Amino acid sequence: MRTPRILMCSPDYYGIEYEINPWMSKHRGSTPERAQQQWRKLYETLVGLGVKVELMTPQPGLPDLVFTANAGLVFHQRFYSSRFRHEVRARETPHFDAWAATHGFEVYTLPEGMYFEGAGDALFCGKILFAGYRIRSDVRGHQWLGQSIQRLVLPLELINPYFYHLDTCFCPLAPGEALYFPGAFDHYGQRVLQAHIPRLLEVSESDAQRFGCNAVVVDKTVIINAGCDKLSSDLASWGYRPVSLELGEFIKSGGSAKCLTLRLDGEEAAIWD
Ligand code: ARG
Repeated sequence: MRTPRILMCSPDYYGIEYEINPWMSKHRGSTPERAQQQWRKLYETLVGLGVKVELMTPQPGLPDLVFTANAGLVFHQRFYSSRFRHEVRARETPHFDAWAATHGFEVYTLPEGMYFEGAGDALFCGKILFAGYRIRSDVRGHQWLGQSIQRLVLPLELINPYFYHLDTCFCPLAPGEALYFPGAFDHYGQRVLQAHIPRLLEVSESDAQRFGCNAVVVDKTVIINAGCDKLSSDLASWGYRPVSLELGEFIKSGGSAKCLTLRLDGEEAAIWD
């Protein structure tokens, strides 16, 4: 079996320094020690599962660099660099690109004016790339990407500002299998998912609000934020092993387990060849 590889970045400079989604409150802020502990636990859990975790160097002034899912989209040895909608996050790009370039990836950049937020908004389920748009990424970027990788891209409009990235409301588990929160999509988006993914596990609104969809899948283990009880038991009955971790400090920024990781060797659900 191949060794899964994931990119993470320690939260040394993490904090709520601006507000670019409805979860963030500068006034409330986050607690650095707790964030460190929670992040470490995720890191150790992944290492314990046999994942080779690669670490980026944290940078002062870039509090969201911890959310490596947004670095870009990895496809084989290609790294499609993000074009962030918000300037505060666009400053992360040179660091992500430099990391990718020095770790054997060929860095691709989307044409100017196309927003794209990496694996946060683009997830493979089987051969198809499902792509969230409107709030952060836009449709044109995804279509450009689809051309470049020669894959079908199915755009899904995100209609709820609390679920502003696709990985907050949709998580492929295996080819043909995924979990999703229907309330984050319009009717058309729900139909697209239902038509292309034979086994869809519906996540309740309360578990979705606890970032249950923002899960990291390693083989049959699914790491999710604590308190998603219904989702945990549903996952168990589907033959998965749910692992709950307290990640509340990151939810204060609008992120959880999945956002803190970037899978480098292809997600479990992705068929790349
Ligand atoms: N504060 C970050 C932002 O709003 C959180 C990013 C979460 N990442 C994700 N893949 N959903 O951009």
